[in-house]
Amino acid sequence: MTELLEPRAIGRDTVRRDGADKVRGIAVYAYETPVPNPTYCHPVQATIARGRVTRIDTAAADALEGVLAVLTPATAERLASTEDAELAVLQGDEVSFRGQFVGAVVAETSESARRAADLVRVEYDEAAHDVALAADRDDLYAPEKVNPAFPTDTGEGDVDAALADAPATVRQTYTTAMYHNNPLEPHATTALWDGTALTLWDSTQGVHPDRTAVCKVFGLDEERVRVICPYVGGGFGSKGTPHAHVVLAALAARAVPGRAVKLALTRQQMFALAGYRTPTIQRVQLGADREGHLTAIAHDVVEQTSRIKEFAEQTAVPTRHVYAAPNRRTTHRLAALDVPVPSWMRAPGECPGMFAPEVAMDELAAELGIDPVELRIRNEPGVDPDSGKPFSSRGLVECLRRGAERFGWAGRDPRPGVRREGDWLVGTGVASSIYPAMRQPSSAVIRFDAGRYVARIGAADLGTGAWTVLAQITADALGVPGEDVDVLIGDTDHPAASVAGGSSGTSSWGSALVATARAFREKFGTEPDDGDEMDGATGPNPETEEYAMFAFGAQFVEARVHADTGEIRVPRMLGVFDAGRIVNPRTARSQFIGGMTMGLSMALEEESVLDPRFGHVVNHDLAEYHVAVDADVGDVQVYWLDRPDPHVNPMGAKGIGEIGIVGTAAAVSNAVHHATGVRVRDLPITLDKLL
Ligand code: MOS
Repeated sequence: MTELLEPRAIGRDTVRRDGADKVRGIAVYAYETPVPNPTYCHPVQATIARGRVTRIDTAAADALEGVLAVLTPATAERLASTEDAELAVLQGDEVSFRGQFVGAVVAETSESARRAADLVRVEYDEAAHDVALAADRDDLYAPEKVNPAFPTDTGEGDVDAALADAPATVRQTYTTAMYHNNPLEPHATTALWDGTALTLWDSTQGVHPDRTAVCKVFGLDEERVRVICPYVGGGFGSKGTPHAHVVLAALAARAVPGRAVKLALTRQQMFALAGYRTPTIQRVQLGADREGHLTAIAHDVVEQTSRIKEFAEQTAVPTRHVYAAPNRRTTHRLAALDVPVPSWMRAPGECPGMFAPEVAMDELAAELGIDPVELRIRNEPGVDPDSGKPFSSRGLVECLRRGAERFGWAGRDPRPGVRREGDWLVGTGVASSIYPAMRQPSSAVIRFDAGRYVARIGAADLGTGAWTVLAQITADALGVPGEDVDVLIGDTDHPAASVAGGSSGTSSWGSALVATARAFREKFGTEPDDGDEMDGATGPNPETEEYAMFAFGAQFVEARVHADTGEIRVPRMLGVFDAGRIVNPRTARSQFIGGMTMGLSMALEEESVLDPRFGHVVNHDLAEYHVAVDADVGDVQVYWLDRPDPHVNPMGAKGIGEIGIVGTAAAVSNAVHHATGVRVRDLPITLDKLL
């Protein structure tokens, strides 16, 4: 059992420490880092999806006033490691996806860099490319594992026999679109090479993992690379691992030693170079008895990766944990295409992976005539169906019940397409959410000086509230008021910390800070002297040996569909979450609302359209890649059980960054079906699919 903190500062609604600086515009982001005499880098991108660069003519670019360097595969520095093909920037003439870096210009101004990049002439030997994902491709393969290290396939019992015997079945195929992370702050790096050391002011979800990757690529010792990132304007996973632009910025800096180089991807470049969520094709088969007890669950996923680097989204993984059934199967198959490298996007795996089964559960409920909330409750497992371990805590049933009550679910007429208010058809839908409660090794240092405690840790705040909640946690661990604690994050000069990913930040960094604070108290007592300092670290959570750890949620949605035009509105969403103890209700609410809004956006709007003729995303800007805006979002209500989990960490807190997006799109689809009688199994749900 983990020794839980006595909550004093945690659990309190505390304003963001970085909030005022951000709204006043004085929080400094990577690109804006004040450096003397900066230079600017603009990339040259491939205009073919597959082939070879045969010739690059840089004469016109070289001749342009203000141009300091033109980098090409022929002239760029050889990297120490090209093992990660995504980061092997300008190391060869091969083109593996459209938009790939094939050159770059460094110049005195961003305008001249951009102009010179336009003047670089690139000739290609073009090969036929293949960017079309389909479930019937004959080259689909099973990866060795799925992100980050889950088994590719799992199986138990005899699914096909159970399906054949089941009195009620659902067998359907569901698809989700390609989606692109679109944080407000683009991917940006300011890089300075002084001849011996490299400094990167990089917009990243983790300064230490970022440094590790860069050190490997350039063959530099860690003491010679510093990554600094106090603020991040959103990432959603796309800044969780460094992408090619970070290497390009460092290459550019090494080409102009002593001068800092600034590189910011344009919004359009982000659609080829910053990762994205793979489209998925998901076959779900459910078998159940007449009372709605599942006898079989099969979830078979087909998705894409790039030809040069594998990223296998773990889409079927949530199905392994959410409902009980004696016969179970999950599989993942990939097509390696001539496309950009997919990567993390908010709740990789769980987000697309709970769309298909949660719509299938709604279809099963309709077939059996059982209320969709009740159907889910009937399939609540006693232990984790995958590992057989007990859950550290599992509040899904209570989330469903409380959500139903607050939403006004009782007495819902299950018949689809029969409620009309004026010109609008009205329906409601529900879906479950699940997301793992993970924890990673991290370290911290706490120092007492002039009556204040200063904690330092290489954590990142992507707008989530880390600056604030880490101070709350440290204060409680020291037993002092929150105002007496300063926390410094976002610098590799601070102790090494894990990536802000997988909703594990608060859990990982908080655990390290609590261990450090407790050691500090043990060594120095409650009246320390100035200069007293303690460092500490925590490894992975040993209790994962005994318990399966997840956050849960229930999402309720009201949808209205215009009877004539098919226009879809979602006036009301309500989520109830079991995320253990909530460290800060203000920042937590913001995370849940943000996740649910992103889920609404996924359900109704977002879709990257890949042109098979050219292999690029044609709607590569925010004018055409639609994300939900204020006018699309109605009333969003968020509640939580606020029950500390006794096993996850000393705060009793599960992660909250990703659970909010999980299940939302299914709840929207289920509500649209209830409103109209039309079952949309392909995201996004656009009006043409309803008419
Ligand atoms: Mo999250 S997609 O693991 O940053």
